[in-house]
Amino acid sequence: MNVGRVQEGLRTQCFGWSIILSRVAASTNDLAKKLAASGAADGTVVVAETQTRGRGRLNREWVSPAGGLWFSALLRPVLEPSHASRLVFVAGLAVAKTLRELYGLDVATKWPNDVLVNGKKVCGILAEMRTAGQRIDYVVLGVGVNADFEVRVLPEELWESATSLKTELGREISLEELFRALLESLETTYDLFLNQGFAPVLQGWKSFAGFLGKHVIVTNVDERWVGTALDVDNDGSLVLRLEDGTEKHVHAGDVSVRIR
Ligand code: BTN
Repeated sequence: MNVGRVQEGLRTQCFGWSIILSRVAASTNDLAKKLAASGAADGTVVVAETQTRGRGRLNREWVSPAGGLWFSALLRPVLEPSHASRLVFVAGLAVAKTLRELYGLDVATKWPNDVLVNGKKVCGILAEMRTAGQRIDYVVLGVGVNADFEVRVLPEELWESATSLKTELGREISLEELFRALLESLETTYDLFLNQGFAPVLQGWKSFAGFLGKHVIVTNVDERWVGTALDVDNDGSLVLRLEDGTEKHVHAGDVSVRIR
């Protein structure tokens, strides 16, 4: 990763003008949180070539080989803490748009924090926050893109559900070009959110959502629901029509689309 090349021609006001590159990090989210706690500014970005302890949602391991784009953006939004999870949709929309525009791929967003290409996961997002009283001190928005490596580099149990840009495109991709485009899209989408609220972000995100209208199984730690994915409401919850006809708003979980 050549940071100078990322910043060459970067069309952002704030995001990406301070990039901390760590060739090998435990987790860029952890590094960004440390920097945040010692006062780093809004828009600071941490990127690693590989992570030894990359983390996903629910503390799952996130395998992070060389060739991936593993980064975390530090944000200090003036926002109610209960609205911070909306930033996952900001990042998801920014990633989905970028992958479609740069590569012309068939891109979909999947509730709550995934981006898929040709139906397989190519990107995951992990938002972590620290509050100070009733306000947000910082949010770290971690983005992992399986970019310039073949999916076969990942453990075999992921080959069914995950993919990479290199595998889908059948060619190498430039991490610097992808990173620059993502930073630009992230800033534009974040500004849209701050200036115009969540509605246009959610609308954009839903325009990529492949699972709406489908029969799905939603699981979280100790619960499971089966039904039709009707909508995502304006607090980011998934709205399901359960098999008994009732509606259920699910705040956290994993969706799998049911074949029947
Ligand atoms: C998920 O799908 O569960 C979220 C995956 C998030 C991975 C990214 S890679 C950069 C940042 N650092 C981490 O440890 N995790 C996020």
